[in-house]
Amino acid sequence: VSKDKGGARRFATVPVALGDRSYPIHIGSGLLGWLGGEIARHTKATRAAVVTVPAVGRRYAGRLLPSLREAGLETGQIAVRDGDSHKNLREAARLYDALLDFRADRATVVVALGGGTVGDLAGFAAATFLRGLPFVQIPTTLLAMVDASVGGKVGVNLPRGKNLVGAFYQPRLVGIDIDTLASLPVRERAAGLAEVIKAGLLWDAAFFEQLEGNAENVLRLKPEVLLPTIERACAIKAEIVAEDERESGRRMLLNLGHTLAHAIESLSRYRGILHGEAVAIGMLFAARRSEALGLCPPGVAGRVERLLGRLGLPTDLPPYPRRAYLSALRVDKKRRDARIQFVALRAVGRAETVPLTPAEILPAGE
Ligand SMILES: NC(=O)c1ccc[n+]([C@@H]2O[C@H](COP(=O)([O-])OP(=O)(O)OC[C@H]3O[C@@H](n4cnc5c(N)ncnc54)[C@H](O)[C@@H]3O)[C@@H](O)[C@H]2O)c1
Ligand SMILES: [Zn+2]
Repeated sequence: VSKDKGGARRFATVPVALGDRSYPIHIGSGLLGWLGGEIARHTKATRAAVVTVPAVGRRYAGRLLPSLREAGLETGQIAVRDGDSHKNLREAARLYDALLDFRADRATVVVALGGGTVGDLAGFAAATFLRGLPFVQIPTTLLAMVDASVGGKVGVNLPRGKNLVGAFYQPRLVGIDIDTLASLPVRERAAGLAEVIKAGLLWDAAFFEQLEGNAENVLRLKPEVLLPTIERACAIKAEIVAEDERESGRRMLLNLGHTLAHAIESLSRYRGILHGEAVAIGMLFAARRSEALGLCPPGVAGRVERLLGRLGLPTDLPPYPRRAYLSALRVDKKRRDARIQFVALRAVGRAETVPLTPAEILPAGE
């Protein structure tokens, strides 16, 4: 483990243990210029299609592509449209076309360079094009680093709901270059921190407490806290995914806050609100609801609200009519019959699923 002058660690690897589909998450500074060899080693590919959005490609493709070429890979760069509103089947079809133009074959690795929308979309294309190409995630937003790039969920939105089409498709490698966060707007960083807070809240009380102590420093990208925070959030997700890859049990806990978040995103048509912001609102909602249902002691929601508030994250439900929320909740993927597996809190650091109807999740008059 190398350290920089300030004594902060500069590199860490979190293993994701999934049998013969196991892979490492490398986290560090300056990784883009080093990843080419790792990608070649983990995929045995001869060509690399780097899928990115213009805002990210312009800044960072120039560091990654030479390292891929030095490792002997032939490279191509494919631009997709930016934003969650373009994470859809039409954009996937455009991506298939671009892969055909690149003459992608089974020895072509699809490298997602960007945020969660690029990772989900490129991963979905990788999972389905020619029935599956090797895939690598290089997340460049905090949200994608700590959540979206880990665990193998890929997919696209349908007009009627988030992530309704997709697959479990594990990457061969995740490479997190924390230097890329320097250009990420602070609002996006805060949205990513919402998922970090979520990981602590549902799994690790000590980590949550640590964030209560240093969240602002993570937001400011202070090196001594940034890498360990990303590392711990990845490790929590990796641990849960290793136990329950296909979300039949424990993995559902990672949906803390997401039942409401997905409803909010769908009602806002994926515009105006960031995914992590919707998660912040949904997470506080879940904490309050858990208290109201007597599932967790009072005070938990207050701590969640204060921490989110300090980071400037939104906490109030956008004022859509209740019936709009109820119909959005009815398309939730975690639905079984009329009930949704709602993730409730028992305490800070402990969550469980409770089957609730949409009307129980959102009672009249609240
Ligand atoms: N697959 C999963 O398990 C999973 C988990 C959580 C979220 N998601 C999905 O992830 C998506 C959200 O991801 P996101 O929050 O990363 O958003 P995003 O991918 O839309 O990126 C946000 C914005 O930041 C820009 N950007 C990215 N990296 C940058 C950088 N380093 N510097 C400057 N700008 C940069 C992008 O161009 C974009 O405009 C949603 O679609 C959500 O459903 C998936
Ligand atoms: Zn999420």
